[in-house]
Amino acid sequence: MHRKMKSIVVIWLMCFALWALAEDTATTTNTDETDKYVLYNFVKANWFRAQAICASQNYTLISIPTYKVNEEINTYLLNSTEIIDEPIWASGSNLANVNRWSWYSTGATFTFRRFSSPPGTAPRCVAHNGLTGDWTALSCTSERYFMCEKRC
Ligand SMILES: *[C@@H]1O[C@H](CO)[C@@H](O)[C@H](O)[C@H]1NC(C)=O
Ligand SMILES: *[C@@H]1O[C@H](CO)[C@@H](O)[C@H](O)[C@H]1NC(C)=O
Repeated sequence: MHRKMKSIVVIWLMCFALWALAEDTATTTNTDETDKYVLYNFVKANWFRAQAICASQNYTLISIPTYKVNEEINTYLLNSTEIIDEPIWASGSNLANVNRWSWYSTGATFTFRRFSSPPGTAPRCVAHNGLTGDWTALSCTSERYFMCEKRC
């Protein structure tokens, strides 16, 4: 095996181990989940606390870098046991740079956007509405349901 190939396999195995650990603890909470996502539809939190709760489970607030991921999240939300008819926190914000929206979880600036109407500079945190698939910028301190993804 090439060395490069080997390190890819090692990284993959490490990710898998982390995922297995994370999933183990996530199953102890009352959430709708797949192996990749955990939906917190029984506790509301502001954007900062939501991120902290995800992190405490070795997860992170969801990032939505592409149309495909947005669709994946819509499907997940529509298929969850309780349809949530309100926006839920994702990791997007313009907190780091007021002129640049980015995903907290990855640091990537937005390339794909799905705002229902163009956001101003405030409110500054991004929520995703599973019913419409659209995003809304909302006050980061408002209490909302949220969705975490495996950190890997
Ligand atoms: C998160 O990951 C760390 C380091 O791998 C591990 O020690 C810890 O038990 C994990 N926590 C949870 C809740 O899975
Ligand atoms: C929808 O949920 C059911 C039951 O949890 C699951 O078996 C199925 O794979 C899910 N479908 C999608 C598209 O996520």
